[in-house]
Amino acid sequence: MKATARAFANIALAKYWGKADSDLNLPAMPSLSLTVTELFTTTTVAFDDGLSSDDVVVSDAAQSGRTRERVVKLLDRVRNEAGVDLFARVASQNTFPVASGLASSASGFAALAVAARVAAGLPHDAVLASRLARTASVSAARSVYGGFVTLDRGAPGDADLAATPVFDADYWDLRVVVALVGDAQKETSSTDGMERTRMTSPFYDAWALTAPRFYGEVLAGVRARDLERVGTAMEASTFAMHACAMASAPPVVYWKPPTLAIYDAVRALRARGTCAWATSDAGPHVKVFCEARDEGSVTQSLRAVDGVTRVLVAKPGGPATLEAT
Ligand code: DP6
Repeated sequence: MKATARAFANIALAKYWGKADSDLNLPAMPSLSLTVTELFTTTTVAFDDGLSSDDVVVSDAAQSGRTRERVVKLLDRVRNEAGVDLFARVASQNTFPVASGLASSASGFAALAVAARVAAGLPHDAVLASRLARTASVSAARSVYGGFVTLDRGAPGDADLAATPVFDADYWDLRVVVALVGDAQKETSSTDGMERTRMTSPFYDAWALTAPRFYGEVLAGVRARDLERVGTAMEASTFAMHACAMASAPPVVYWKPPTLAIYDAVRALRARGTCAWATSDAGPHVKVFCEARDEGSVTQSLRAVDGVTRVLVAKPGGPATLEAT
């Protein structure tokens, strides 16, 4: 009753930021992401009759509080479906700093969903794993699949919502150059930040109304393999989401001074003719999309920005996989 799964993080090109239903964890807008290599989580789940409670360890640190609660809730769903009455030991390792806006909840809950189902004796099923991962963290639904992945807006009561893969990792040989700005954990989780935005930002309704348009543009650009079209819509989605969040009370601000300096560097790259486009999520780091041939010049430019602590280059990544244990 043990299984190990690995899932890559995904970067949202058209963002989700706001829930239609907090109990069912349904997103209020459609989103589109690219699953990427380099940033991944490996999770082992073992149901064990020697345990008297679930034991959750992330990056060698025993978890209590909210992270543990979210994991236990997911395990409860699996126990329910599989008819298993045992507690589990969950051990998870990441290749990158967690809870800093690098989609660790996406890769983390996707790996957990895949491993927990199989450890409980259920057959691996990507649709059911994506649905299960989504109940824990919306973006995790997308990390069950590789390449370009969409997730619809949640219709009222749609407990079955899962992500949909649209193009595999080998569809488009893009690079995602990730500029890290420190490794501090964020002060406001995505869950809290987007809820505060929904409740208090005067711009939330406009954001929720506009987000599907960004999504449609990003999808059309991906279909045409048109990086300029994708990038323009991705940056628009990013700035609209962050502007909306920053207008919350109190403000939800994930950016640090180097974050803006990176956006400047990317604009300078474009002014010199390099097709490079930036995005960021609930944290100060910036992910820059470019063609494979521009990987070197983009990496060099981002390394030169004051406050950038590390630069790594990712490629389109594959789906979550089960590992031999
Ligand atoms: C900015 O999926 O982490 O990365 O559903 O509450 O767990 P919960 O939120 P989460 O939010 C991700 C927000 C984002 C944009 C995105 O990935 O679409």
